[in-house]
Amino acid sequence: MRKEILELLMQTDGYISGEKLSRHLGVTRAAIWKNINQLKEQGYEIESITRKGYRLISSPDIFTEQELQYGLHTKALGKKIFCRDVVDSTNQLGKQEALKGAPHGTILLAEQQLKGKGRRGRSWVSPSKTGIWMSCILRPKLLPQQAPMLTLVTGLSVCKALRQTTGLEAYIKWPNDIVLNGKKICGILTEMNAEMEQVHYVVLGMGLNVNQETFPDEIRSLATSLKIEGGETYNRKKIIQKILTALEADYESFMETKDLSLLLSEYKRYCITLGKKVKVIQGEEVIYGKAVDLTARGELVIQKDDGSYIAVFAGEVSVRGLYGYI
Ligand code: BTN
Repeated sequence: MRKEILELLMQTDGYISGEKLSRHLGVTRAAIWKNINQLKEQGYEIESITRKGYRLISSPDIFTEQELQYGLHTKALGKKIFCRDVVDSTNQLGKQEALKGAPHGTILLAEQQLKGKGRRGRSWVSPSKTGIWMSCILRPKLLPQQAPMLTLVTGLSVCKALRQTTGLEAYIKWPNDIVLNGKKICGILTEMNAEMEQVHYVVLGMGLNVNQETFPDEIRSLATSLKIEGGETYNRKKIIQKILTALEADYESFMETKDLSLLLSEYKRYCITLGKKVKVIQGEEVIYGKAVDLTARGELVIQKDDGSYIAVFAGEVSVRGLYGYI
């Protein structure tokens, strides 16, 4: 019943009387009062005024499907949301659920990851209740070689969502990091299951540092959080909703052409890599040059120090002046 009460409180602009609540739900006003107190214990701030009723003032920053869906106006993303306290990895869970048939747009969220995965076999530090450790299952009609572009799409969506919700100047470090004041704030890990001609599903994993106040020694010089940079505690739910809204729109634009042509000018505007000296490690090869452009297929065009041009799609790219440039 708590769920229904919360729903009615959320839907009501202003006060809803105890009588109306009890009529609606077919229970006594005493039962309503008891449930309201339980909600308060969970962290919901609810005002109660005699003869007026109850009014929801604020919700705690916890993840529940209901909380996250309230105020979220997407078509597919977030129609199903798995919220967990602790998991090994939301990407791992995403792959399991995708294999069981979870629909396009399913979201997996956890307060904490014990084995958060980063790219290239690295781990992703995912402490409890501070960040957004989220994965999204997509089922796009794409060829396997087109799917990595979704990482760039996601980077753009996250970057825009962060700018909109915090006003902070987030940038994309091509292809899949989001940076703030020269340090990494978000990483994206895309995994897929496909056969030669067709993608079965893609799991987009996003790790966003939100309210951490400090980082382990090994990554302190590389990583940062919204709280460290913005000086305030951010509501993770609002950020998630903005990310999902932006991602759905950008995903639709991407699927229209199955490349980045409709998103390219926006991506370039936020891409901190362009115009910078870069070092790209591709297997055994190390390439030095300047990042000069980005193609609609998501490749970074580099003018090498010898004057020639190459386009790289994958590879470890470090940007001079940013963390990780060796
Ligand atoms: C990177 O920059 O190396 C990518 C980091 C991706 C981390 C996220 S957190 C949510 C999802 N689950 C995981 O295990 N990894 C991704």
